[in-house]
Amino acid sequence: PNENLKTSNNVRHVGSVKTQPSDAGYISHLNAVILGEALASEEIDLIFPSDEFSRQAHVPSLEKYLEMYKRSIEDPAGFWSDIASSEFYWKEKWSPQVYSENLDVRKGDIKIEWFKGGSTNICYNCLDKNVEAGNGDKIAIYWEGNEPGSDGTLTYIQLLRKVCQLANYLKDVGIRKGDTVVIYLPMLMELPIAMLACARIGAVHSVVFAGFSAESLAQRIMDCKPKAVITCNAVKRGSKVIHLKDIVDAALSETSRNKVCVDVCLTYENNLAMKRESTNWQEGRDTWWQDVVPTHPTTCEVEWVNAEDPLFLLYTSGSTGKPKGVLHTTGGYMVYTATTFKYAFDYKPSDVYWCTADCGWITGHSYVTYGPLLNGASVVVYEGVWMENLLSSSTISSLDGVLGREITLKVRKQMPEDLMVVGLFKPTFPWVHGLIPDVILSRIRLINGKNIREFIEHHNWKMPEDLMVAPNYPDSGRCWDIVDKYRVTIFYTAPTLVRSLMRDGDEFVIRYSRKSLRVLGSVGEPINPSAWRWFFNVVGDSRCPISDTWWQTETGGFMITPLPGAWPLKPGSATFPFFGVQPVIVDEKGVEIEGECNGYLCVKGSWPGAFRTLYGDHERYETTYFKPFPGYYFSGDGCSRDKDGFHWLTGRVDDVINVSGHRIGTAEVESALVSHPQCVEAAVVGVEHEVKGQGIYAFVTLVEGVPYSEELRKSLILTVRNQIGAFAAPDKIHWAPGLPKTRSGKIMRRILRKIASRQLNELGDTSTLADPNVVEQLITLADC
Ligand code: PRX
Repeated sequence: PNENLKTSNNVRHVGSVKTQPSDAGYISHLNAVILGEALASEEIDLIFPSDEFSRQAHVPSLEKYLEMYKRSIEDPAGFWSDIASSEFYWKEKWSPQVYSENLDVRKGDIKIEWFKGGSTNICYNCLDKNVEAGNGDKIAIYWEGNEPGSDGTLTYIQLLRKVCQLANYLKDVGIRKGDTVVIYLPMLMELPIAMLACARIGAVHSVVFAGFSAESLAQRIMDCKPKAVITCNAVKRGSKVIHLKDIVDAALSETSRNKVCVDVCLTYENNLAMKRESTNWQEGRDTWWQDVVPTHPTTCEVEWVNAEDPLFLLYTSGSTGKPKGVLHTTGGYMVYTATTFKYAFDYKPSDVYWCTADCGWITGHSYVTYGPLLNGASVVVYEGVWMENLLSSSTISSLDGVLGREITLKVRKQMPEDLMVVGLFKPTFPWVHGLIPDVILSRIRLINGKNIREFIEHHNWKMPEDLMVAPNYPDSGRCWDIVDKYRVTIFYTAPTLVRSLMRDGDEFVIRYSRKSLRVLGSVGEPINPSAWRWFFNVVGDSRCPISDTWWQTETGGFMITPLPGAWPLKPGSATFPFFGVQPVIVDEKGVEIEGECNGYLCVKGSWPGAFRTLYGDHERYETTYFKPFPGYYFSGDGCSRDKDGFHWLTGRVDDVINVSGHRIGTAEVESALVSHPQCVEAAVVGVEHEVKGQGIYAFVTLVEGVPYSEELRKSLILTVRNQIGAFAAPDKIHWAPGLPKTRSGKIMRRILRKIASRQLNELGDTSTLADPNVVEQLITLADC
């Protein structure tokens, strides 16, 4: 089965590392990897690229990587200016220097600048440059709608024309270089079009994920004070229509009460979801996209901007309630996203690339829009499936129930027996409206004891779908259907999606060919080795290397990532730093630790894609990122480095638990728990413990249909004891049919910590949760 990759049974000799403390840090360290003569014999989990893959790769060997990496560290100016000059168009070259930086608060204000004085335009480099190179007819975007069969394409020339029309409209309504435009759109083609149109005229876009509430949208609008908002009237999520324009209206009334008025609200008529007649309208402010944009010329002069002019603002959450406006500028971000994309995915012009992220997040900025288009890639843009994709409401006529009692569910369809729902659920669950989330189904049994899933399948009803983490509409095979349809070669997604699809079973995967795939990617959280292996073995047929890319909204692009042809992978490790990145692991005093170690992940020196400030709050920028460990950028993540120099992200350091003096990464315990055959997902938090300082509190989601029992609890704890050690054994296992996640699929540990410590009236803001009901459910199950 393993044509292109040799697995652990077939390893090439790579030396184990003898730690060589030295100023040169990684370089000597990596040299040791190559030069070391002893095989790390206990290492059974090294997965090598095949010679065939390596031969065709941009970076075919560890030696080549080292040579390039070395230069990028010793001569960053030379390294990056060579790439910037040869692969991008600059109206004017930068001067006098390639970069200047101060990352040390003790030496003054933090400042990072790359290619300053150079003038360019990222939209020009994404579109015009590719068209001029003769690739105008190449597909830029394959758009795939939520409903199978609804799709469309745009070639580079078509995309350029559409972007120009919108750019001309924006100029017409008075948007100028430096003005901000908020974009609140679902994953329609109009979303990247809007981003590119802003970039073309030098306007600063701020995309707000279209799952955010009116309140969150208002908060962001109040912070960045845009001249215009671009949205659409509605979007379909499963069978439900969400009136996005109403959300924008509510947000804009809120902001105008606070004296922040937005004059223009350009609204795209998404007639797949709703006709324009039923849309609320404010004359003078609101305009239909379709009425004005297509009448504008299809060419538009580029606004040349300085490399250090802002490109976009993207709000991300911090430790306080106020979101942080991460600001990225043009030149460095452009060079960095394009270069990381090319190398980490070993991108070639013949590739078809699909990243499942939404443009509302940084991944959608850097690796749906800019990175791939700068490389002239064909990108699949998938509208995606949202959480409301549940049991068709028409099938249920009534549902009566009281918390803590048996609940009877009556269905309208002809059926041999009534369904009985057994469980402790609050009547506020969405299914009182006739909807049953999949996670609840695992606790529902037919009176005769059959699982409701089998029952529904037997009666050929539409299956209720999982919460939004994975595209599973019309079924869990949708991803692979899309992969086959477009012959996707590079597939980039998040561990949460992998775990969710893994839970649904291999049969949804193996019924599709997936032969086109050659590189897989993962981002967003540490990928636990069991999910990694499933992704590798089942999805990739043990053939496709996985690029587990570690980075952040703040970093703009990949920081620690495999280069798939260059070195072996270890399941769960993000491997080595990208060119120009010097990761440093420090102890709590900020002292750099060498060799095999565990600590706080910082970065020494700047890189072109680094964010330049937090919008309107440079002080918070310095305090959050540069003051904790003076001299370094502090990532907020914990990381360990093994004897071979591989990096293992252990999660946010606020998630590190110190039990009886042992530092335990929550990710480690979680990884152990999910290796248990009956556990699909786990989230671990620390709770105060009289004796140990902190105790380990674990929320666990079980395999579909598996009941929670005392026996299972013990066996989960035993698994952790066995895998990590007795000190890491959870003090409490809390059965969690669902975990509180943000709409991007990130587990909200802040809430879990409050539930774990029973501070139930301090749960804080739960409005950003994908499903706020999960919290109620967890509280109810706390003492199960
Ligand atoms: O904790 C790390 C985790 O996600 C954080 C950044 O989140 P955000 O800014 O939303 O960006 C997500 C997409 C880049 C990091 O501090 N993280 C991201 N990628 C990985 C990861 N943790 C482990 N492994 C990764 N590959």
